[in-house]
Amino acid sequence: MSRITLITSGKGGVGKTTAAAAIGAGLAAAGKRTAIVDLDLGLRNLDVSLGLETQVFWHIGDVLKGTVSAEDALVRSDRYPNLMLLAAAQTVRQETLTKEALQRVLTELSGMAEHVLIDSPAGIGECFQLILPLADEGIVVTAPVVSAVRDADKVLHLLEEAGVRKRSVIVNGVRTELVRTGAMMQPADITDVLGAELLGVIPDDDAVISCANEGRPVSGTKTPAGQAYDRIVRRLLGEEVPIPPLKIKKKGWFRRR
Ligand SMILES: Nc1ncnc2c1ncn2[C@@H]1O[C@H](COP(=O)(O)OP(=O)(O)OP(=O)(O)O)[C@@H](O)[C@H]1O
Ligand SMILES: [Mg+2]
Repeated sequence: MSRITLITSGKGGVGKTTAAAAIGAGLAAAGKRTAIVDLDLGLRNLDVSLGLETQVFWHIGDVLKGTVSAEDALVRSDRYPNLMLLAAAQTVRQETLTKEALQRVLTELSGMAEHVLIDSPAGIGECFQLILPLADEGIVVTAPVVSAVRDADKVLHLLEEAGVRKRSVIVNGVRTELVRTGAMMQPADITDVLGAELLGVIPDDDAVISCANEGRPVSGTKTPAGQAYDRIVRRLLGEEVPIPPLKIKKKGWFRRR
Protein backbone atom coordinates (compact mmCIF):
# COMPACT_ATOMS: atom_id res chain seq x y z
CA MET A 1 0.00 0.00 0.00
CA SER A 2 1.41 3.35 -0.86
CA ARG A 3 1.96 6.29 1.43
CA ILE A 4 -0.02 9.41 0.51
CA THR A 5 1.73 12.58 1.62
CA LEU A 6 0.18 16.01 1.38
CA ILE A 7 2.70 18.83 0.97
CA THR A 8 0.96 21.93 2.13
CA SER A 9 1.25 25.36 3.73
CA GLY A 10 -0.92 28.12 5.07
CA LYS A 11 0.84 30.97 3.35
CA GLY A 12 1.53 30.92 -0.38
CA GLY A 13 4.92 31.03 -2.05
CA VAL A 14 6.80 29.34 0.79
CA GLY A 15 8.26 26.49 -1.28
CA LYS A 16 5.69 23.66 -1.55
CA THR A 17 6.17 23.02 -5.26
CA THR A 18 9.95 23.14 -4.89
CA ALA A 19 9.67 20.65 -2.02
CA ALA A 20 7.34 18.32 -3.94
CA ALA A 21 9.70 18.24 -6.94
CA ALA A 22 12.83 17.80 -4.80
CA ILE A 23 11.39 15.13 -2.51
CA GLY A 24 9.67 13.29 -5.38
CA ALA A 25 12.85 13.21 -7.44
CA GLY A 26 14.87 12.21 -4.37
CA LEU A 27 12.57 9.29 -3.55
CA ALA A 28 12.61 8.19 -7.20
CA ALA A 29 16.41 8.41 -7.30
CA ALA A 30 16.47 6.18 -4.20
CA GLY A 31 14.59 3.55 -6.20
CA LYS A 32 11.07 4.22 -4.90
CA ARG A 33 8.26 4.39 -7.43
CA THR A 34 6.84 7.84 -6.81
CA ALA A 35 3.87 9.72 -8.22
CA ILE A 36 3.50 13.44 -7.70
CA VAL A 37 0.06 14.97 -8.09
CA ASP A 38 -0.17 18.67 -8.88
CA LEU A 39 -3.35 19.70 -7.13
CA ASP A 40 -2.68 23.41 -7.44
CA LEU A 41 -5.57 23.59 -9.87
CA GLY A 42 -5.55 26.52 -12.24
CA LEU A 43 -1.85 27.23 -11.67
CA ARG A 44 0.23 24.51 -13.25
CA ASN A 45 3.81 24.65 -11.90
CA LEU A 46 5.15 21.22 -11.08
CA ASP A 47 5.55 20.09 -14.68
CA VAL A 48 7.84 23.08 -15.27
CA SER A 49 9.81 22.40 -12.06
CA LEU A 50 10.43 18.86 -13.29
CA GLY A 51 11.16 19.87 -16.90
CA LEU A 52 8.16 17.85 -18.10
CA GLU A 53 5.91 20.63 -19.41
CA THR A 54 6.21 19.65 -23.08
CA GLN A 55 5.07 16.12 -22.29
CA VAL A 56 1.82 16.96 -20.55
CA PHE A 57 -1.16 15.86 -22.59
CA TRP A 58 -3.78 14.81 -20.05
CA HIS A 59 -4.22 16.28 -16.59
CA ILE A 60 -6.00 15.57 -13.34
CA GLY A 61 -9.18 17.26 -14.58
CA ASP A 62 -9.46 14.61 -17.31
CA VAL A 63 -8.94 11.85 -14.75
CA LEU A 64 -11.50 13.30 -12.33
CA LYS A 65 -13.99 13.50 -15.20
CA GLY A 66 -13.27 9.90 -16.11
CA THR A 67 -12.04 10.69 -19.64
CA VAL A 68 -8.77 8.82 -19.04
CA SER A 69 -7.29 6.63 -16.33
CA ALA A 70 -4.68 8.08 -13.99
CA GLU A 71 -2.23 5.60 -15.51
CA ASP A 72 -2.77 7.03 -18.99
CA ALA A 73 -2.58 10.62 -17.75
CA LEU A 74 0.73 10.19 -15.92
CA VAL A 75 3.79 11.82 -17.42
CA ARG A 76 6.97 9.81 -16.97
CA SER A 77 10.39 11.29 -16.51
CA ASP A 78 13.35 10.16 -18.63
CA ARG A 79 15.74 11.50 -16.03
CA TYR A 80 14.03 9.67 -13.16
CA PRO A 81 12.56 6.38 -14.40
CA ASN A 82 10.73 5.88 -11.08
CA LEU A 83 9.04 9.29 -11.15
CA MET A 84 5.56 10.00 -12.51
CA LEU A 85 3.60 13.23 -12.59
CA LEU A 86 -0.11 13.84 -12.73
CA ALA A 87 -0.30 17.42 -13.96
CA ALA A 88 -2.71 20.05 -12.71
CA ALA A 89 -5.65 21.16 -14.78
CA GLN A 90 -5.91 24.81 -15.78
CA THR A 91 -9.62 24.58 -15.02
CA VAL A 92 -11.68 21.90 -13.34
CA ARG A 93 -15.45 21.68 -13.56
CA GLN A 94 -16.70 22.11 -10.01
CA GLU A 95 -18.99 19.08 -10.14
CA THR A 96 -16.10 16.72 -10.96
CA LEU A 97 -14.00 17.81 -7.98
CA THR A 98 -15.39 15.59 -5.25
CA LYS A 99 -13.85 13.62 -2.42
CA GLU A 100 -15.00 10.38 -4.08
CA ALA A 101 -13.36 11.27 -7.40
CA LEU A 102 -10.12 12.26 -5.65
CA GLN A 103 -10.22 9.04 -3.66
CA ARG A 104 -10.61 7.07 -6.90
CA VAL A 105 -7.57 8.81 -8.43
CA LEU A 106 -5.45 8.23 -5.33
CA THR A 107 -6.48 4.57 -5.12
CA GLU A 108 -5.42 4.07 -8.73
CA LEU A 109 -2.09 5.82 -8.11
CA SER A 110 -1.53 3.77 -4.95
CA GLY A 111 -1.53 0.66 -7.08
CA MET A 112 1.29 2.06 -9.19
CA ALA A 113 3.52 3.93 -6.76
CA GLU A 114 5.00 3.37 -3.32
CA HIS A 115 4.88 7.09 -2.57
CA VAL A 116 2.19 9.50 -3.71
CA LEU A 117 3.04 13.15 -3.05
CA ILE A 118 0.40 15.82 -3.43
CA ASP A 119 1.43 19.41 -4.09
CA SER A 120 -1.51 21.31 -2.70
CA PRO A 121 -2.57 24.90 -3.23
CA ALA A 122 -1.71 27.35 -0.46
CA GLY A 123 -4.28 27.91 2.22
CA ILE A 124 -7.31 26.07 3.43
CA GLY A 125 -9.66 26.35 0.47
CA GLU A 126 -12.13 23.80 -0.83
CA CYS A 127 -9.59 21.62 -2.59
CA PHE A 128 -7.48 21.40 0.56
CA GLN A 129 -10.53 20.42 2.62
CA LEU A 130 -11.39 17.64 0.17
CA ILE A 131 -7.93 16.14 0.02
CA LEU A 132 -7.18 16.49 3.74
CA PRO A 133 -8.91 13.33 4.99
CA LEU A 134 -7.34 11.25 2.21
CA ALA A 135 -3.73 11.85 3.31
CA ASP A 136 -1.68 9.51 5.49
CA GLU A 137 0.91 12.14 6.20
CA GLY A 138 1.16 15.94 6.07
CA ILE A 139 4.32 17.95 5.44
CA VAL A 140 3.76 21.61 6.18
CA VAL A 141 6.22 23.99 4.55
CA THR A 142 6.78 27.32 6.23
CA ALA A 143 9.06 30.28 5.87
CA PRO A 144 10.78 31.42 9.05
CA VAL A 145 8.56 34.47 9.41
CA VAL A 146 5.80 35.04 11.94
CA SER A 147 2.89 35.29 9.47
CA ALA A 148 3.83 32.04 7.71
CA VAL A 149 4.32 30.22 11.03
CA ARG A 150 0.91 31.36 12.27
CA ASP A 151 -0.71 30.05 9.07
CA ALA A 152 1.27 26.80 9.35
CA ASP A 153 -0.15 26.38 12.86
CA LYS A 154 -3.69 26.62 11.49
CA VAL A 155 -2.94 24.02 8.80
CA LEU A 156 -1.33 21.65 11.32
CA HIS A 157 -4.47 21.85 13.47
CA LEU A 158 -6.66 21.04 10.47
CA LEU A 159 -4.45 18.06 9.65
CA GLU A 160 -4.76 16.86 13.24
CA GLU A 161 -8.55 17.31 13.23
CA ALA A 162 -8.78 15.33 10.00
CA GLY A 163 -6.94 12.44 11.66
CA VAL A 164 -3.66 12.80 9.73
CA ARG A 165 -1.44 11.22 12.34
CA LYS A 166 2.02 11.94 10.94
CA ARG A 167 2.64 15.66 10.63
CA SER A 168 5.96 17.40 10.15
CA VAL A 169 7.36 20.75 9.17
CA ILE A 170 9.97 21.94 6.69
CA VAL A 171 11.39 25.36 7.47
CA ASN A 172 12.40 26.79 4.12
CA GLY A 173 14.43 29.83 3.14
CA VAL A 174 16.56 30.10 6.26
CA ARG A 175 19.23 32.81 6.21
CA THR A 176 21.87 32.06 8.80
CA GLU A 177 23.05 35.63 9.07
CA LEU A 178 19.55 36.87 9.90
CA VAL A 179 19.07 34.08 12.45
CA ARG A 180 22.38 35.15 14.01
CA THR A 181 21.22 38.71 14.46
CA GLY A 182 17.85 37.57 15.77
CA ALA A 183 16.02 39.05 12.79
CA MET A 184 14.89 35.60 11.64
CA MET A 185 13.33 32.84 13.76
CA GLN A 186 15.36 29.73 14.63
CA PRO A 187 13.89 26.57 13.01
CA ALA A 188 13.89 24.76 16.37
CA ASP A 189 11.92 27.62 17.96
CA ILE A 190 9.40 27.40 15.14
CA THR A 191 8.73 23.70 15.67
CA ASP A 192 8.55 24.31 19.43
CA VAL A 193 5.80 26.85 18.83
CA LEU A 194 4.06 24.55 16.36
CA GLY A 195 4.48 21.42 18.47
CA ALA A 196 5.41 19.43 15.38
CA GLU A 197 8.34 17.34 14.22
CA LEU A 198 11.03 19.21 12.27
CA LEU A 199 11.51 17.25 9.05
CA GLY A 200 14.17 19.53 7.65
CA VAL A 201 15.67 22.98 7.32
CA ILE A 202 16.34 24.36 3.85
CA PRO A 203 18.60 27.37 3.46
CA ASP A 204 17.76 30.27 1.25
CA ASP A 205 19.82 29.25 -1.76
CA ASP A 206 20.08 30.74 -5.26
CA ALA A 207 20.54 27.19 -6.57
CA VAL A 208 16.82 26.61 -5.97
CA ILE A 209 16.00 29.39 -8.41
CA SER A 210 18.51 28.32 -11.05
CA CYS A 211 17.34 24.68 -10.84
CA ALA A 212 13.69 25.79 -11.13
CA ASN A 213 14.56 27.81 -14.23
CA GLU A 214 16.36 24.84 -15.75
CA GLY A 215 13.43 22.54 -14.96
CA ARG A 216 15.28 20.21 -12.66
CA PRO A 217 14.72 19.39 -9.00
CA VAL A 218 17.32 20.73 -6.59
CA SER A 219 17.71 17.42 -4.75
CA GLY A 220 20.74 15.41 -5.79
CA THR A 221 22.74 18.54 -6.55
CA LYS A 222 25.82 19.48 -4.57
CA THR A 223 24.27 22.67 -3.25
CA PRO A 224 23.25 23.56 0.31
CA ALA A 225 19.51 23.31 -0.51
CA GLY A 226 20.02 20.14 -2.56
CA GLN A 227 21.86 18.42 0.25
CA ALA A 228 19.25 19.55 2.79
CA TYR A 229 16.54 17.97 0.58
CA ASP A 230 18.60 14.78 0.25
CA ARG A 231 18.66 14.55 4.04
CA ILE A 232 14.87 14.99 4.14
CA VAL A 233 14.45 12.15 1.65
CA ARG A 234 16.63 9.88 3.76
CA ARG A 235 14.59 10.77 6.86
CA LEU A 236 11.38 9.96 4.98
CA LEU A 237 12.90 6.59 4.11
CA GLY A 238 13.39 5.92 7.81
CA GLU A 239 17.05 6.76 8.26
CA GLU A 240 18.15 8.67 11.35
CA VAL A 241 19.77 11.73 9.85
CA PRO A 242 20.42 14.55 12.29
CA ILE A 243 19.65 18.11 11.31
CA PRO A 244 23.03 19.83 11.19
CA PRO A 245 23.26 22.89 13.41
CA LEU A 246 23.13 26.22 11.60
CA LYS A 247 26.64 27.47 11.07
CA ILE A 248 26.24 30.63 13.08
CA LYS A 249 29.55 32.35 13.74
CA LYS A 250 29.93 33.72 17.23
CA LYS A 251 30.06 37.50 17.28
CA GLY A 252 33.66 38.70 17.39
CA TRP A 253 34.77 41.30 19.90
CA PHE A 254 34.65 44.09 17.32
CA ARG A 255 31.31 43.02 15.81
CA ARG A 256 29.66 42.99 19.21
CA ARG A 257 29.82 46.77 19.53
N1 LIG B 1 15.18 27.58 -0.33
C1 LIG B 1 14.94 28.46 -1.30
N2 LIG B 1 15.88 29.38 -1.66
C2 LIG B 1 15.65 30.28 -2.63
N3 LIG B 1 14.50 30.35 -3.35
C3 LIG B 1 13.52 29.48 -3.04
C4 LIG B 1 13.67 28.50 -2.01
N4 LIG B 1 12.53 27.75 -1.96
C5 LIG B 1 11.71 28.25 -2.90
N5 LIG B 1 12.29 29.28 -3.55
C6 LIG B 1 11.71 30.08 -4.63
O1 LIG B 1 10.54 30.71 -4.11
C7 LIG B 1 9.51 30.76 -5.10
C8 LIG B 1 8.26 30.09 -4.56
O2 LIG B 1 8.52 28.69 -4.41
P1 LIG B 1 7.40 27.61 -4.74
O3 LIG B 1 6.77 27.86 -6.06
O4 LIG B 1 8.01 26.28 -4.49
O5 LIG B 1 6.35 27.96 -3.58
P2 LIG B 1 4.86 27.44 -3.40
O6 LIG B 1 4.64 27.32 -1.93
O7 LIG B 1 4.64 26.22 -4.21
O8 LIG B 1 4.01 28.65 -4.01
P3 LIG B 1 2.42 28.66 -4.28
O9 LIG B 1 1.77 28.84 -2.93
O10 LIG B 1 2.22 29.85 -5.17
O11 LIG B 1 2.07 27.36 -4.92
C9 LIG B 1 10.08 30.11 -6.34
O12 LIG B 1 10.59 31.10 -7.20
C10 LIG B 1 11.21 29.23 -5.80
O13 LIG B 1 12.23 29.02 -6.77
MG1 LIG C 1 3.14 25.79 -5.64
